[in-house]
Amino acid sequence: MKKATLTIDKAFTVSKVDDRIFSTFIESLGPTVYGCIYNPEHPTANEAGFREDVIEMMKGINRGAVRYPGGNFVSGYHWMDGIGPRENRPVRTERAWNRIEPNIMGIEEYTDWVTRVGAQPMLAVNLGTGTPEEAANEVEYMNFEGGTTISDLRKKNGHEKPYNIKLWCLGNEMDGTWQLGEKTAYEYGRIAYEAAKQMRAVDPSIELVACGSCANDKTHPTFPDWDREVLEQCYDKVDYLSIHRYYNYDPQLVKDTVFPAQFTVEDLPMIPEDMASFIDAISAAADFVKARKYSNKTIYISVDEWGVMGSELVQPKGLEWTERTLPKKGERMMFHSNLIDAALFGALLITFLNKSDRVKIACQSVPIGGIFAVDPNGGCYKQATYFPFQQAAAYSKGTALRVALDSPTLQTENYGEKPFVKAAAVYNEEAETITVFAVNLSLRESVELESKIAFENATLTRHIQLYDSQPLAVNSFENPNRVVPKEVRVTTGNPVLPPLSWNVLQYKL
Ligand code: AHR
Repeated sequence: MKKATLTIDKAFTVSKVDDRIFSTFIESLGPTVYGCIYNPEHPTANEAGFREDVIEMMKGINRGAVRYPGGNFVSGYHWMDGIGPRENRPVRTERAWNRIEPNIMGIEEYTDWVTRVGAQPMLAVNLGTGTPEEAANEVEYMNFEGGTTISDLRKKNGHEKPYNIKLWCLGNEMDGTWQLGEKTAYEYGRIAYEAAKQMRAVDPSIELVACGSCANDKTHPTFPDWDREVLEQCYDKVDYLSIHRYYNYDPQLVKDTVFPAQFTVEDLPMIPEDMASFIDAISAAADFVKARKYSNKTIYISVDEWGVMGSELVQPKGLEWTERTLPKKGERMMFHSNLIDAALFGALLITFLNKSDRVKIACQSVPIGGIFAVDPNGGCYKQATYFPFQQAAAYSKGTALRVALDSPTLQTENYGEKPFVKAAAVYNEEAETITVFAVNLSLRESVELESKIAFENATLTRHIQLYDSQPLAVNSFENPNRVVPKEVRVTTGNPVLPPLSWNVLQYKL
């Protein structure tokens, strides 16, 4: 069996891990909000009309923030449509996704829901069809103590105390041709500057995320000039630049989407490398502007939408992947995450931990449908992708360590030879543990992982693994525990990482 070797040393750290690397993103898309989150007819609905079964599931993962209300949706959304008595709220044609928006779940209901799931709010303002003044009014409504017409309107609507929302996104994907109110980098940089100025005038304590490139794909012509040009306009006024990325590994599945297929299932080890190089490119663009401005301030990265669009159709040569559950019509986006998706989730989270000196926020996209399967009219269950997300969030409290990893390589289909083991390590000083997260992205080979840990008396005490000999296996309403992690017996030998496995290795110091 091939061997990978990981070396870590107490002296070599990356950064304290920001809780917000384990954030999520929710928007009014399909039945996500109306049906899965808000559904007063549901047997588990509480007094506010929220589904308690979904709240319970969300509680299990939320160490960070929940970004809302969009997404593409926010670029045509006027927040005042969603406040005050429900019977007076307008019903609108929603032009990002071509739906009808009833405006039942406004920004106050969202904040109430986020509080119930134990996460922090992260609100996006409309810089597509909206104005800087509208954005500043939103901050005033949510954060201003009182004594002004707008903040007193909040009180009149039943909320005496300000919500004090700290984290705000200045629009969404303004570089996308599909975006309502799409802009050039200069136009967006100017409106972001003006919105930031007015929003901070109302509440100087807020943190602001500007829209960076929504793709690093070859066909996205503005990457990465967009980021430089935007920051040239608003560098001093913002704290983070966003990037968005959805990966897939089945060219058949994505042939009709905005961006062409880039990877096949034989290219999996390249996917986390691609994310790492996206982060590096955007950081370089930000640092270029920093140098030009002789600034002392660093702009951090918010990967404020990320996800994996799974496939149950892939069939690598020579492998017997017979267990597959084909989605019923219309179910593709909402159900069925398999072991490949889970391994990729793990590998992307590992990338964020290894870059946690720069990445401070990362929002897994639409967990309802990604991490959880939720039937708008029925129950819900945890998907395979839940486990790496939940475990990485739970076991990475502390400081990310610099990992020197010597991994065996494999021949990918489109990207040459690539190392296929990915790993990150977090030192928790309080609990006196080191947790190593490791993924094997080979479809075929198991690998032994030797850890050289330059800490006194580091002893492997626990190994949790998510693995199945049928990588297309999924959980379902009929069998919600088909794919679950297992404890692996710890021996004196090196732990073994089977193909497409996610592993949590806990060392006690
Ligand atoms: O989550 C789906 C969409 O993907 C979001 O609305 C948008 O921001 C991205 O393009």
